[in-house]
Parts: sequence; structure tokens; C-alpha cells
Amino acid sequence: MAEVIVLDTPDDAGRFVAAHIAREVRANPEFTLGVATGSTPLPVYQALHAESEAGTDFTRLTAFALDEYVGLPVEHPESYRSVVDREVTVPLGLDPARVHVPDGSVEGIQTAGARYEAALEANGGVDLQLLGIGRTGHLGFNEPGSSFGSLTRVKTLTERTRIDNARFFDSLDQVPIHCVTQGLGTILRARHLVLLAFGEGKAEALAAAVEGPVSASMPGSAIQLHARVTVVVDRAAASELKFRDYYQWAQDHKPDWQGI
Ligand code: PGA
Repeated sequence: MAEVIVLDTPDDAGRFVAAHIAREVRANPEFTLGVATGSTPLPVYQALHAESEAGTDFTRLTAFALDEYVGLPVEHPESYRSVVDREVTVPLGLDPARVHVPDGSVEGIQTAGARYEAALEANGGVDLQLLGIGRTGHLGFNEPGSSFGSLTRVKTLTERTRIDNARFFDSLDQVPIHCVTQGLGTILRARHLVLLAFGEGKAEALAAAVEGPVSASMPGSAIQLHARVTVVVDRAAASELKFRDYYQWAQDHKPDWQGI
């Protein structure tokens, strides 16, 4: 079962997760971080920036993004390559050569998934994967129905996800229909999953992912198959969790040596 940590605000969650990552990076500067995009991980990136300013050296970190839109030029401000550069690579001073994002260009799209899997494998996988969850329950862009064994490949976004992401674009028409995303099988290979969710709008999907039946209809429920998962949420996102009193009890009695 996932460890569930409920904190007061997204900023508290960001600082908590960033402090853990910074400790790991100080112990192993060659750490590999799986980065997510969207609004959810931003407090983590802000807090990582503070860790960097306070002296943690991230220059040897390797990063792998979860997904990318198909057909959006990389220089478009909402391509995930641009988002990762803006939110992670530049503020943390990462070596751009160590920052990987799936190739969403239309030319060569048939091999984009296999090339990304090869890059992940050559790197030796991901140490810690940051994850958000969509209101459809998606992890990465693995929409409902995605196989738990799936690898990086082209997927079709649901209309729900396109509408949710239209806030980053001038209009819904500009939101791509296709993406390249790590599969659920790819994500499950990361050595530690850290799932973040904030706000009431995520409460239902979060509860289904953490406590509901394991089903491809709820891609987030794939986390229940992983041996090391930390779910870090605010009170609003936790509001539909049936066992939240128990999660709090477990936190209150957690041995100091355990970490997350
Ligand atoms: P959000 O997206 O962080 O922008 O809400 C999460 C997701 O779609 O996985």
C-alpha cells in the first residue's frame, strides 16, 4: 500500500518532496529524476530551486520527462521540452545534455517510443518519478484503458484532458490530439514513485487510484502494484480518501529512520 502524506498546502508538499530529493542528490549526485509537467509539480520545482540556492548541486542530475505533445514545435512555450527547460533545467542548472523529453516531432514519430525506452534503459532507469494525476485518472498521458504493461508510445488524449490543458493554450483547437507518453509499464519500473495531487478537483481520481480496484480503467491505480510509492497531497485532494485517519496515524507513529 502506498504511503499517504497529507500536508496543509501545495507549497508544504513541494518543500517536503524537494527536501527528500535534495538529500538523495547530495548522497548520489548522479541521481535520475523523472519529471512531470502540468501545474501539480511546480511547487516541487520551486522548492528544488531553493535547495539549489542553498547549496545542493544538481549539475550531475539526469532527468527524464514523462511525455510530450505530438506535432507541437519544441520551441512552442507549451511543448513539454520548453516547460521542462523553463521550470527545471534552467533554474536548477542542469546539464541540458542530461535532460530527456520524448521526441514529439511528426517526422520519425513511429520510432519515438522505442528510442525513448532505449534512452531510459541506457541510463539505468529512473530513481524517483514525480507524478501528477489527471481528472481522468491518467498518469503521464496514459488515459483510461492503457495497459499496465504499456511502454513509451503514441497515445490519443481524451477530450477531458484536452479541455483541462486548454488553459495553457489560446484555444482548445491548439491543444494537440496526440502525445508520446511513457507507458504504465515504463513508469512502474522507476524505483520510487511520488504521486502529488492538490485541490478538490483531484479528490475523486486520487481516491480511486489509491484505494479503488486495480483496473486499466483507472490508470492511477497502477501505483498499487509498485513496492515503493509515496503519495503527497493537500487536504482538499485527500478529502475522498476512506482511510485518511489511518494514514495520519501511520505518519504520527512512523519510525524516524524510515524516510519516505
Ligand atoms: P495538472 O495535470 O498538474 O496540470 O493538474 C496533472 C496531470 O494531468 O497529470
